[in-house]
Amino acid sequence: MEPNREIFGSNLMAIFALAGSAIGLGNIWRFPYMVGQHGGAAFIIVYILCTLVFSLPIFYCESIIGRRTGRSSIGAMRQLAPGSRWTLIGVFTVLGPLMITSFYSVVGGWSIAYLLRSCFSSFGAMSHEEIGSLFANFTGSVWGPVLAHTAFLLISAIIISAGVRKGIETFSKYSLPPLVVLMILLMVYSISLPGAHAGVEYMVKPDFSRLDARAIASAMGQSFFSLSLGMGTVLTYASYMSKKDNIISTGAWTAVFDLGFALIAGFVVMPAVFAAGLEPQAGPGLVFETLPFIFADMGAASPLLSKVVTVVFFLSVLIAALTSEISMYEVCTAYLVEERKMSRRKATVLVFVVAWSIGVACAVLPKVFDFCDFVSSNVLMTLGALAFSLFIGWRMKKAVVEAELTNDGSLPGNRKVFKVFYFLTRYIVPVGIGIIFLSNFITF
Ligand code: PHE
Repeated sequence: MEPNREIFGSNLMAIFALAGSAIGLGNIWRFPYMVGQHGGAAFIIVYILCTLVFSLPIFYCESIIGRRTGRSSIGAMRQLAPGSRWTLIGVFTVLGPLMITSFYSVVGGWSIAYLLRSCFSSFGAMSHEEIGSLFANFTGSVWGPVLAHTAFLLISAIIISAGVRKGIETFSKYSLPPLVVLMILLMVYSISLPGAHAGVEYMVKPDFSRLDARAIASAMGQSFFSLSLGMGTVLTYASYMSKKDNIISTGAWTAVFDLGFALIAGFVVMPAVFAAGLEPQAGPGLVFETLPFIFADMGAASPLLSKVVTVVFFLSVLIAALTSEISMYEVCTAYLVEERKMSRRKATVLVFVVAWSIGVACAVLPKVFDFCDFVSSNVLMTLGALAFSLFIGWRMKKAVVEAELTNDGSLPGNRKVFKVFYFLTRYIVPVGIGIIFLSNFITF
């Protein structure tokens, strides 16, 4: 580890930062929809199994590399496998986050735009036709999305330039608890709407007949994306963990918070969608097209309530997006600071310029947006996760891996988990990741 390198203030703070990275747009716009599509509670069970069998081991692989070296992805691989091809993993895991930083910022920008709209004008005052064309009109224009993307990226840059403790840790510490409280309030409201029970049923009714191969591949892919794996994000955050922190429990808590938030988001979104008699859909359409109809209908009945609910909702989306965005931004920044010896401020500005440029292309050209989304989420992320698991399972010395997970034997309780983890990492995880990777290219 470099001298004077910052670390998180405590294990709890590391969990906050990691949970902040995990909790993001994926939880709000993809998880609820997938649950309903693939058999309700039956999907949730598969999702939890995938997290235990595949995602947590990968989380631990990245954490071991990061904490062991105290360096971010490229530097860590250079230190552990100097001069070998393994250092290429580092390159993937800087390109991937750079791409996600860019297009995620475009979507983060949309949430700023919708938040401002809900503050200063009302969805309730709009007709269904106006609402129907709102998203297409907004994303079809040039200035709105570009300005919003710029604002979102700028906020992220300010947080990143403040550093690990004053920036990332402070922001995560103060934004996550209110985010969870706001979402719980929205959930209570949403479930109490007349007709909401169909949405609750959509989430909880187990239908095992819908659990096909696609459902299982989707559960794995979603669990990866949601825990921010394969991108060097977990690796970089773990490099800021103290040698005393418990990697195993940190991963477990992060997964619990991430799943808990995804479930809450499901009970916010789906009951409201069903109460309004609308069809659920996946992706940005759910948050930016379907939900505004509901806010508009509420506005007709009670303008003030509609305003409050809308502002709270888009504020929550914005916070969730920001805590994820900064984790990817940090991977790129840490690389420039540590390996290219730039000052943190300079590195933040350089990442801003590059991510802003790619983001502008994503904001105005939907094809570039889809390309960045596909390559980073489906190709680079899975390849990164595969490489990390192979590296820990087959290249790194077993004793070193065990020492890192048990803090040199001072956490004997972790030894049992280590044994299971090691077996999964060597034999099961690479096969699972291979299946997800292929499922991106094959239609079942
Ligand atoms: N986990 C984030 C989400 O659910 C996305 C993300 C992916 C963040 C990869 C960092 C790295 O939205």
